[in-house]
Amino acid sequence: MTEDIERVLLSEKEIQLKVREIGAKISADYEGKNPIFVGVLKGCFIFMADLMRSVNIRCSMDFMAVSSYSGTSSTGAVKINKDLSQDILGRHLILVEDILDSGVTLNYLKQYLTVRKPASIRIATLLDKPARRKADIFADYSCFEVPDAFVVGYGLDYNETYRNLPYIGILKPEVYS
Ligand code: IMP
Ligand code: MG
Repeated sequence: MTEDIERVLLSEKEIQLKVREIGAKISADYEGKNPIFVGVLKGCFIFMADLMRSVNIRCSMDFMAVSSYSGTSSTGAVKINKDLSQDILGRHLILVEDILDSGVTLNYLKQYLTVRKPASIRIATLLDKPARRKADIFADYSCFEVPDAFVVGYGLDYNETYRNLPYIGILKPEVYS
């Protein structure tokens, strides 16, 4: 599996330090607000687990599952495969994503959830790839900006593989071309 990685972009240590920093920021911003962390499956699962453990205020969590991707290119369509399991009226939501790429997914989700009248919706993303943005959307909390390359690990996949790598690595183009 590691032979498919061109180079390590973000080490385990670097990720850990940054996630703690973002967790502390969220704790300060949401003190007394009891936010709901809404993880966007499946890519968020490792980031979400680490982020929530670095948040020290009262909060809860839920998950949504969407599909918009097949391989390395977006189909542009977003499908909800799993919705929230609780009412969000008047609640503060923090959408947790692995990577903000074209922005199509989060833009859709934000509009989809706004209809249910939460008190606020913010976005926390592990990675931000601004070079490929199509939708008019930005991350309120972003750990790292990444170049326009296909990255895997720490939850991110290529065709469901590589999610278990403890670091973020750039995938060799020959793997997907
Ligand atoms: P967006 O709708 O284009 O912002 O796509 C977001 C989703 O695309 C992410 O949640 C990822 O699942 C996937 N994605 C985009 N870029 C990458 C990448 O470089 N590696 C792995 N998955 C990616
Ligand atoms: Mg994916």
